Amino acid sequence: MRLYYNFVRQFYSSANLVWINNLVYSNHVAKFRLKVFGLGNKTYEHYNKVGIYVDKRLEELGASRVFELGLGDDDANIEDDFITWKDKFWPAVCEFYGIESTGEEVMMRQYRLLEQPDVAPDRIYSGEVARLHSLVNQRPPFDAKNPYLAPMKVNRELHKAGDRSCMHVEFDLEGSKMRYEAGDHLAVYPVNDTDLVERLGKLCNADLNTVFSLINLDTDSSKKHPFPCPTTYRAALTHYLEITALPRTHIIKELAEYCSDEKDKEFLKMMSSTTPEGKAKYHSWVQDACRNIVHILEDTPSCRPPIDHICELLPRLQPRYYSISSSSKLHPTTVHITAVLVQYETPTGRLNKGVATTFLSLKHPETDQPSPRVPIFIRKSQFRLPTKPETPVIMIGPGTGLAPFRGFIQERDVCRKEGKTVGDTILYFGCRKRSEDYIYEEELEDYAKNGTVKLRLAFSRDQPHKVYVTHLLEQDADLLWDVIGVNKGHVYICGDAKNMATDVRNILLNIIKTKGNMSENEAQQYIKKMETQKRYSADVWS
Ligand code: FAD
Ligand code: 2AM
Repeated sequence: MRLYYNFVRQFYSSANLVWINNLVYSNHVAKFRLKVFGLGNKTYEHYNKVGIYVDKRLEELGASRVFELGLGDDDANIEDDFITWKDKFWPAVCEFYGIESTGEEVMMRQYRLLEQPDVAPDRIYSGEVARLHSLVNQRPPFDAKNPYLAPMKVNRELHKAGDRSCMHVEFDLEGSKMRYEAGDHLAVYPVNDTDLVERLGKLCNADLNTVFSLINLDTDSSKKHPFPCPTTYRAALTHYLEITALPRTHIIKELAEYCSDEKDKEFLKMMSSTTPEGKAKYHSWVQDACRNIVHILEDTPSCRPPIDHICELLPRLQPRYYSISSSSKLHPTTVHITAVLVQYETPTGRLNKGVATTFLSLKHPETDQPSPRVPIFIRKSQFRLPTKPETPVIMIGPGTGLAPFRGFIQERDVCRKEGKTVGDTILYFGCRKRSEDYIYEEELEDYAKNGTVKLRLAFSRDQPHKVYVTHLLEQDADLLWDVIGVNKGHVYICGDAKNMATDVRNILLNIIKTKGNMSENEAQQYIKKMETQKRYSADVWS
């Protein structure tokens, strides 16, 4: 049962994507008792595949089923899926093991607070991911636990007009021994907005300079602290905790205990319950209104939780990933990313700002002296150009989906200039208006002029009717079949996972069916084969 217990704890304290395709099962002494809850996201093709497979396989191997398979969908409300499953799961467990349940839920702290006013200043963590002082004494190799504090060399606006912003950012890798290839991802460790940190401190009546540790009450656990300790509340809220994520219902439930006004308490309790009324309220009051922890405390004035409990409840701040938008063949000592600034007004009239993109937007390498530095690391990916440059490629990337293809185009251009035979390089790019958000326009037009790339452009709002890259793909059925079916080229899709990637896949499926004279099933198998041969790759996010 320990595995299950740890899972629940970690499930609650981890951010969205970390648990995709993980699952929980219980191994009880001699024989398996089976109960699986898979975590996935419906926008991904292999939704919960691992959970479904393990559940089936354990049953085939003779495990006795305690409770039916549960599936969580992070595209909707994964916590809701889990709680709904859990509500039926516990009675089934009690019945299976012959345990009597009291039906009461007991709130338990996982960590105890230790205030440490006497710790020497050089023993206090101030934003390091793991090793103390790792951001001052930088030592390669650099990775997720040991990010490189990279000098930012360029941060320039790519949109020419309109009220949105897209940044072109360049980091210097000189001396870091970091390597990348076009198609890899760059991770950024951001910090939270100072004003929001101060407001949260005030709402919890906390002295943010207090030095403290949170110590796991489970002495057997390998995770002694939820984040590097000792640290200060200010550093924890700035570097270690996701303070702008919308709190899940289990947090709301714990907050209810800190309301001095019964009405506030009942409201938060109701909203965290699994009743239809509670779910609807949570949906409208937290999710639709985009209320983060600060907004919730501001709008329930009698709720004043202790800051250490808030630090225990909030999920750990995650690095943000960006598709690298340069080629190391052209830029061996710098790495580029292309990021859209996240900023939106909420229904309660507040301005919500994306953590990482706001953090990046506030750095101005052209004027800041010395260069601003950002903790980064590189994550290898499978998104790769074909090994032979003569293989033709089709790249479909509207919006910031263009990012990795900028790197691919640079790479194919280098090959062409080296005198190699380079196959067709066809880019489908779409944005709202040519005059506003056609990012990297000059570069792309130059590459088109010198013959490196063929451009197919869709400006969705430049005419009364929508034109998307998907419309162009439909028009280009013959060309696409020639590249895919006849010349065994590669297809790449990057950008929005929710609609665009699925639409593109369906269109390609249709083209393969009609132009390749295949049945639906044969066309599906054809794409599957392309995937295993790495001829069909998607790099998508939602
Ligand atoms: P956060 O603080 O994380 O806030 C984002 C959240 O705010 C969203 O998840 C959503 O819940 C909410 N939100 C945003 N807008 C609204 C709205 N209008 N109304 C209500 N809620 C809203 N991004 C790029 O720009 N370029 C890339 O090349 C790129 N590559 C990626 C590659 C991968 C593999 C992955 C996983 C993601 C990629 N992303 C890319 C997305 C990127 O990682 C971040 O998610 C994005 O920049 C937002 O981060 P943030 O910290 O600024 O915002
Ligand atoms: P829209 O915002 O005018 O609807 C980059 O975001 C571009 O992709 C925009 O021009 C956007 O158009 C367009 N877009 C929106 N949904 C799409 C989809 N399902 N397939 C392809 N492009 C899409």
